[in-house]
Amino acid sequence: MSDTLTGVAVVGSANVDLVVEVSRPPLVGETLLGSAGGRFAGGKGLNQAVASARSGAPTRFCAVVGRDDGAELLQQTLTDAGVRAVLRRSADAPTGVAHVLALDGGDNSIIVAAGANAELDVSDAVAGVEGAAVVLVQLEIPAAAVAAALSAGRAAGARTLLNAAPAQDAAIDMLDDVDVLIVNETECEELGGVDRLRAAGAGAVVLTRGAAGVTLHRSGQEALDIGAFRIDPVDTTGAGDAFCGALAAALAVGERIEDALVRACAAGAIVSQHRGATTAALSPASIAALIASRR
Ligand code: RIB
Repeated sequence: MSDTLTGVAVVGSANVDLVVEVSRPPLVGETLLGSAGGRFAGGKGLNQAVASARSGAPTRFCAVVGRDDGAELLQQTLTDAGVRAVLRRSADAPTGVAHVLALDGGDNSIIVAAGANAELDVSDAVAGVEGAAVVLVQLEIPAAAVAAALSAGRAAGARTLLNAAPAQDAAIDMLDDVDVLIVNETECEELGGVDRLRAAGAGAVVLTRGAAGVTLHRSGQEALDIGAFRIDPVDTTGAGDAFCGALAAALAVGERIEDALVRACAAGAIVSQHRGATTAALSPASIAALIASRR
C-alpha cells in the first residue's frame, strides 16, 4: 500500500429504510399489523461508510440519490457520522428505498427498490476511490461500477474489499481485483463455496457465520476462526455492514487482518443492539470496551 493513500472509500447504495417491527413475514394476500415502525438511513454502502467513519477511519462515500427529502435524511446521517460524502443527484429517479421487516429475535427480511442507485456509473466509481488506502464495495449498485471501483483501486495500490451482498454471479469475474472478499453463509453457497471463490482470484475470503463468528480463509494457511461476541440482538439490520465498515477502517489504519476482524465482530455486535442499520453508539471507544469485556 502506498504512503500517499489514506482512509477508506466506500462506493455503494444509499437507501431510506422503512422499518416495521412484526413477529413474522406476511403470507401472500395477508395484511399483518406490526408493533412499531420507523424511517432510517440505510443502504449497504451508506451503512458501511458510516460504520467505517464511526470506527475511526477518515471515510468518503460515493452514491447516487434522488432530489427528495429521503436524500436529505441520508446526507444528515453521513454528516453526523463525519463521512465525506459525494451524493450525485439523479435528474429523474427517487432515492432508493428498502422495506425492512424487523422480526422477533432480531432477524429481518428486506426488499430494495434501487431507484437512483441504479444510475451509479463507472465514472462515479473511479472518481470515488481516488486516493483511498482501502476501497470497499458491495453489490447493490450496477456491477460495472463495482468492477470499475475495484480495478481502479487495485491499479492505484489500494487494498480492495468486496462484500458480495446481495450475491450475484457477476462477482466471480471481479475477484482477480479483490484482496478481501466478505460473504455470509448464504452468499458463499450461492457463489459456489469458498474453494471456488479463492480459485477465482480472491486474496482472502472472510466467511461470516452470525452467532458462530467468522472464518478467515487464506491460501497456504489454516483457516482462522474468530468467535462472535455474545449479545442479545435487538435488530440485526446493518450488522453485516458494520462488520465490513469496521474491517475496512481497521485495515486502513494498518491493523493486521486477524485483529481487524475482532474489531469488525465487535462493531457488528454493537449495531445489532440498536434499532436501525446505523447507530451513534458505534465508536472506537465502544469497540474497545466490548473487546476488553471478553478478555
Ligand atoms: O444490509 C442492510 C441494508 O440492506 C439496509 O439498510 C437496506 O437498505 C438494504 O440495503
